[in-house]
Amino acid sequence: MDKLLEIKDLRISLLTPYGRAYGVRGVSLDIAEGEKLGIVGESGCGKTLTAKAILGLHRRERTEISGSIVYKKKNGETVDLLRLREPELRKIRGSDISMVLQDSSLALSPIITVGRQMEDMILAHRAVGRHEAGRIAAKLLGDVGLSEPEMRLKCLPGELSGGQLQRICIAMAISSDPRLLIADEPTTALDAVTQAQILELLKNISAEKKMAVMLVTHNFSVIKRFCDRVCVMYAGEVAERGKVAEVTEDPRHRYTQGLLKSIPDGRKRRLEPLAGSLPDVYERITGCAFSERCPDRREDCRGEIPEISLGGTHCASCVLAGGEPNGG
Ligand SMILES: Nc1ncnc2c1ncn2[C@@H]1O[C@H](COP(=O)(O)OP(=O)(O)OP(=O)(O)O)[C@@H](O)[C@H]1O
Ligand SMILES: [Mg+2]
Repeated sequence: MDKLLEIKDLRISLLTPYGRAYGVRGVSLDIAEGEKLGIVGESGCGKTLTAKAILGLHRRERTEISGSIVYKKKNGETVDLLRLREPELRKIRGSDISMVLQDSSLALSPIITVGRQMEDMILAHRAVGRHEAGRIAAKLLGDVGLSEPEMRLKCLPGELSGGQLQRICIAMAISSDPRLLIADEPTTALDAVTQAQILELLKNISAEKKMAVMLVTHNFSVIKRFCDRVCVMYAGEVAERGKVAEVTEDPRHRYTQGLLKSIPDGRKRRLEPLAGSLPDVYERITGCAFSERCPDRREDCRGEIPEISLGGTHCASCVLAGGEPNGG
């Protein structure tokens, strides 16, 4: 499969009044064209920082960032997004790659009608007039399953439900026919039924338009329902990655095992929540970041942890994983 985006050894530190926060500590992952990749991990593990780095949405003056994020353009040319200047990045952001956030109210202005905001977005990326942009906006709302699009376009965001607003944000994000959609917890604020409908919608759009999706979530059930591959993050690193079936049926990192035990699967009555919490983001970590919480930690967990290849696309950064160290 052709790689659309490849992140290598991404490190992000935030320079704060309290010191240096090591938000992302060396993430490598890739997404193929049309693929649905899930990023999962508990709150604070660096999912949003990683997603935002792709679009260059970090505050440059307060962020130290290294590694590479190579994006393959439509014409086959590759660019490192971390090395692009703002005007070049702006061309890619919102057209080739777009993003849907957890909270639609943050993405929309409360005092401007939905129609006007959608038209402005369309005008920014397409050579059309406002009248045509309005027609495209109505069509897009129909595409994301909103009834009576013309009427919705006249509404202010406050006059619509959370689920409707999230559909509108998805419509805006796909208005430029992006090749990659980054969806950062797009359903967390919604009830279970609406959540399922939005995921189904994203899945259909992805299949129809052959659009890759990077879905960020803390919920493994969402990953199982939606994604082709998954990347499990812990404390700013990738703990385990592979096809969803590889990882969920045979999790090798103790953190992944713990996460999977803590989700309802319809059979188990008792869930086992993961004890403990993430290490302090201001501390440097040597060895395995999970070792403090790991029931099976050993002496060599304090040393460097190689990524172990477990066959197929399955890899885990754990000395207990079995398999062979990953040469690549
Ligand atoms: N601007 C910032 N200044 C200081 N620390 C930050 C900043 N942004 C993020 N962090 C820290 O970096 C770590 C990773 O943050 P990030 O937002 O990527 O987490 P996340 O995995 O998206 O969590 P959640 O599931 O809660 O959204 C956290 O410990 C967070 O507190
Ligand atoms: Mg987040």
